Amino acid sequence: MRTEPNGLPSLEQSPAVRDRFQRLKARDVILDVRNLSKTFSVKGKSTTALRNVSFTTHRREFLCVVGASGCGKSTLIRIIAGLDQQTSGEILLDDRPVVGPGSDRGMVFQGYTLFPWLTVKKNVMFGLEMSYDGKKDPEMAASQWLDLVGLAKFANHYPHQLSGGMKQRVAIARAIANQPRILLMDGPFGALDAQTRSRMQKHLMEVWRKIDITIVFVTHDLDEAILLADRILVLKPHPGEVIELMEVPVPRTRATEDLTSQSYAATKARLEALIHGSEGHHDANSTDAAGEADDEPYPALVRLTDVADSID
Ligand SMILES: Nc1ncnc2c1ncn2[C@@H]1O[C@H](COP(=O)(O)OP(=O)(O)O)[C@@H](O)[C@H]1O
Ligand SMILES: [Mg+2]
Repeated sequence: MRTEPNGLPSLEQSPAVRDRFQRLKARDVILDVRNLSKTFSVKGKSTTALRNVSFTTHRREFLCVVGASGCGKSTLIRIIAGLDQQTSGEILLDDRPVVGPGSDRGMVFQGYTLFPWLTVKKNVMFGLEMSYDGKKDPEMAASQWLDLVGLAKFANHYPHQLSGGMKQRVAIARAIANQPRILLMDGPFGALDAQTRSRMQKHLMEVWRKIDITIVFVTHDLDEAILLADRILVLKPHPGEVIELMEVPVPRTRATEDLTSQSYAATKARLEALIHGSEGHHDANSTDAAGEADDEPYPALVRLTDVADSID
């Protein structure tokens, strides 16, 4: 494995991969995060969860965010979702500042956030009904989205009748039903067993290929990030800062079997070196306050889009 002068494994792109990144970066910027910082103050102690985080995400890009526990992944995604507010910096979505939750963002958390008293179809219809403008019938639209996630047959089931993987499919259908510009996912498959997780990863790739959606996906599973991402935003903790925005050199389409390829191995080795190399750097004045926010309920989101250009 080749290394850079600093000892990090170097990543080489094939001409095809390089071309693909050139095309990706020529697409419109959907999400523009500029100098984002977030400091929590709890009982006089402050924690800098994010410091000067900047990156852009292009249309139909699949961006993964990785980093050790506590590096600010959930904080970042919650601020993008508008569920929390930054201390400084700004976020532009389609050139407009994000100031609160909005239907241009869909969200899927690790915990199951379906309404238990509503059927699968009613869960997916929830946001569609809120935004109904008399045009597209919410029930028809919901059926179409359930079809996309392969759950048409389960439309009249209740969440408790579904497996964990199926619940997350419904959550995905609900989040994309309103056709948001970006889909924000915080460890969505983290609670699933390995086999189901692998099926869900493939499934998400298929959904992503079929619709016009940009995805920001948080995970602490490096294999998952390499399998899914165009680029990987690598954060370090205390304070949460960007170490690298890595272009994954593994060609698409990818399968779990590619885990053994050389470019996969180099990518993983580099990620591990970046993440583990940064562990143990703590600010003297920072503290780990309780703040697991993964399971907060999020209002269902609404908005329809219809474009699907090539992402290859
Ligand atoms: N609501 C909160 N109040 C105080 N500190 C918080 C809060 N949420 C998160 N934090 C702190 O911010 C840092 C980043 O947390 P988080 O974004 O949850 O990290 P990750 O998702 O990467 O594990 C941690 O030190 C965490 O303790
Ligand atoms: Mg988290």
